[in-house]
Amino acid sequence: MQGCRKPCRRFFPYLVPEFSGAVPKAGIAHYCQELVSFTILTKKLEKKRKDRFDGKERSFETASGSTANQMKTKNMILITGANGQIGSVLTGALRDRHGTDAVLASDIRRPMTSDGPFEILDVLYASRLRELVEKYGITQIYHLAAILSAKGEQHPQQAWDINMRGLFNVLEMARDFNLRLFFPSSIAVFGPTTPRLQTPQDTITQPTTVYGISKIAGENWCQYYFLKYGVDVRSVRYPGIIGYQSLPGGGTTDYAVEIFHEAVKGNSYTCFLKEDASLPMLYMDDAIRGTLELMEAPAARIRIRTSYNMAGLSFTPAEVTRAIQQYVPGFSVGYEPDFRQQIAESWPSSIDDSAAREDWGWKPEYDLDNMTRDMLSHLADHYLVKLPELG
Ligand SMILES: NC(=O)c1ccc[n+]([C@@H]2O[C@H](COP(=O)([O-])OP(=O)(O)OC[C@H]3O[C@@H](n4cnc5c(N)ncnc54)[C@H](O)[C@@H]3O)[C@@H](O)[C@H]2O)c1
Repeated sequence: MQGCRKPCRRFFPYLVPEFSGAVPKAGIAHYCQELVSFTILTKKLEKKRKDRFDGKERSFETASGSTANQMKTKNMILITGANGQIGSVLTGALRDRHGTDAVLASDIRRPMTSDGPFEILDVLYASRLRELVEKYGITQIYHLAAILSAKGEQHPQQAWDINMRGLFNVLEMARDFNLRLFFPSSIAVFGPTTPRLQTPQDTITQPTTVYGISKIAGENWCQYYFLKYGVDVRSVRYPGIIGYQSLPGGGTTDYAVEIFHEAVKGNSYTCFLKEDASLPMLYMDDAIRGTLELMEAPAARIRIRTSYNMAGLSFTPAEVTRAIQQYVPGFSVGYEPDFRQQIAESWPSSIDDSAAREDWGWKPEYDLDNMTRDMLSHLADHYLVKLPELG
């Protein structure tokens, strides 16, 4: 059996899960299975791809402007990384829109609660991904599974592996099954050499975090699959996402969620960024609405196939503290900057998202004051706390 493992590693590195330190060690039998299924599938796929380019299967826009995806009668959506900060909210929003059974949530662990179809899926396992795509007749994938910026700096190789290999596996699936794909990029694609104010859509991208490097490479691979294979892939560069519905999972902007929870619970908060660290942010409700609008826009409106800048608001820890104090007067914040401050300093403080506005009508609704009110009132309900100043 040992002999099977070496060829797997040598020839099919993107199919061998053990390349990532993150995944539990799989048995040798698994490698054999991957290798066998890969070999069987290769021939089928080559035929499918040939058919596509012979015109038997259309993945590009038709003369009437509709895509093959739109022509399918019913959407069946797969979300990877669905238990995360964004995924747990996006799953509900997509189920409201398309019906509970039309949205398959997946992650590496079962969620605490689930009100619809869920499957365990580690995006490093290409054969499992394919199995689910076939079993459920998937037409769209929202690929959210990733390791974020702060965690990525602690485990750089794992972050690169999951972020890149996961994306490759999903891109290949989109290519083979003619799927529409959403890939969330990040403002982390920018770096210290990028203009910090109103960062333009097209500018210098020299990120200094492994997360940023993986996202800028991912954006370019998305564009490559669009140009070369006609994959309908769409992407935005999210700023820091703030929401009451879920907790963040290891990013540099996590403080902007934590601070609200501590304020409502009547605690003080120690911030891991400096008080004047200004960063672009976006309220969850805006982020979800924008994501759905992008995915539902006619393909002809999507001019950018790397990733769109997306902005909501920008603030510093001191500014959001003052906004909270209007409704929680005794709230206090101390500052103990750690390694995340350095990451924050390499990122823009505001973003020019005019391309997204022009192309598919993006427009955020929340500013600092109405976001603060909304966060506090939902969290007050959650923690059963009364905040009289909210009115
Ligand atoms: N939250 C933000 O502020 C923000 C900002 C910019 C971009 N993004 C991007 O949006 C996406 C979702 O972010 P999030 O905040 O929800 O992240 P998160 O860390 O909260 O969730 C990520 C999810 O991916 C899962 N996951 C990790 N490894 C996996 C694997 N190998 N296979 C399958 N699932 C795996 C985790 O279990 C987790 O549930 C990510 O791609 C992230 O890079 C998020």
